[in-house]
Amino acid sequence: MTGHASGGRPTSYFIRTFGCQMNMHDTEHLEGVLEDSGCILAVDITQADVVIFNTCMVRKSAEDKAWGQIRATASRNQSAVIAVCGCMAERYGVEIMSRCPGVNLVFGLDSFDRLADLLERCDGRLCDLGSIDDASIDRLPSKRSSPSAAWIPVSHGCDRFCSYCIVPLVRGRERSRPFDEITEEVRRLADDGVLEVTLLGQNVNSYGRELDGASFAGLLEAVANQPGIRRVKFETSHPGDLSDSILRVMSETAEVCEYLHIPVQSGSNSILEAMGRGYDRDYYLQRVERARELMPGVVVSTDIMVGFPGETDDDFENTMDLVRAVGFDAAFMFIYSRREGTAAAAMENEVSQSVLKERFEALSRLQSRLTGSSLSNLVGSTVELLVECEARSGEYVVGRTRGNQVVLLPAEDAPLHSLVEASVTSAGGHAARGRVDKVIREPGRSTW
Ligand code: 5AD
Ligand code: SF4
Repeated sequence: MTGHASGGRPTSYFIRTFGCQMNMHDTEHLEGVLEDSGCILAVDITQADVVIFNTCMVRKSAEDKAWGQIRATASRNQSAVIAVCGCMAERYGVEIMSRCPGVNLVFGLDSFDRLADLLERCDGRLCDLGSIDDASIDRLPSKRSSPSAAWIPVSHGCDRFCSYCIVPLVRGRERSRPFDEITEEVRRLADDGVLEVTLLGQNVNSYGRELDGASFAGLLEAVANQPGIRRVKFETSHPGDLSDSILRVMSETAEVCEYLHIPVQSGSNSILEAMGRGYDRDYYLQRVERARELMPGVVVSTDIMVGFPGETDDDFENTMDLVRAVGFDAAFMFIYSRREGTAAAAMENEVSQSVLKERFEALSRLQSRLTGSSLSNLVGSTVELLVECEARSGEYVVGRTRGNQVVLLPAEDAPLHSLVEASVTSAGGHAARGRVDKVIREPGRSTW
């Protein structure tokens, strides 16, 4: 056991991760690097020599939650090294230490490979950010959370600069990973028994723009063709870059799942314009129509924001109307959160809290009905499910369809991380329930 006051190599760690799948995947790298240096996962946060907060700041609520937990941990675990990385580290750097004196180490994506070293040297307070060059992060060891499913970043950063969004300011400009590096990683994962890969990026559709001759459609096809890979998913798609050639590869390639996550954000043209999204509502509706033409039954989910500055009742009605017109299978809904440094932070006419709340509730009610009816449509069908994790009630496990919908299964019939065929028997709330007909593949090395 080594406390930060004495320096030295920590022996156990605990990581608290906030935010998106990219952050969760970064955490897998942190775990890989730490375990390679001989550090083991602590049984809980109070037992760890080093506690790392991998932070998110896309909305103020995520940031406030992280600050609260960092402060609480720093005052409770005084002998542990408290470290902060992720979006808040990239944005605030050393300022984190003045705002929260209990923090011992602030490090950036560019320092992940030096983490073991930094922790050893960190006998007080240290800030090591470097410049963002996450090309190297992708080659670091990683401790994957599932033997059957894996996340694969295909690009980092974002060039879209939507007016409300902090991501380009903390994750930098878009950089695509080399094509061969991605396909090689997928090949190795498939050799290890991985059945499903999810290609990750803030805007995966623009993959390869700065590489010679590479495109997302080509990448999707190459990834799907790696022997052993059964399911390929990807997110997030920007509607403006969702080309016909991507939709065609999806429809013609059996391994690519019938699932599209296409954030619309708003159904009002003037709000879309103020957001700098680069498309209007008709264009969005056409993209969905084209996807459904090529892939009848494709599952479509989205992100929607309410209360962008200047949003009127009419604008909001247009969003409700678009949601009804598309009939999204699922949606992540957010209340606009002002982020310092973004273009929208300077915009006037913020929507009052009471109106925000009303609009958010109306939208949530509408989407709950749509999600419920999409799940009801599954009842009576046979679906292929990858068993992801235990459900909150220990008697069930969470299975994911190819369309990313959740079907709960009795735990005793469905081994964790296996691929099963199941009949959907009922639906309600945010999940359906089913019965296992057959286990297609137990987790483990691949031999088909
Ligand atoms: N306020 C609220 N929601 C936001 N998102 C991004 N930035 C903000 C913000 N400032 C939402 C968008 C995006 C999702 C990942 O988070 O809907 O698609
Ligand atoms: Fe943010 Fe827009 Fe980039 Fe998505 S596309 S990460 S919302 S700037």
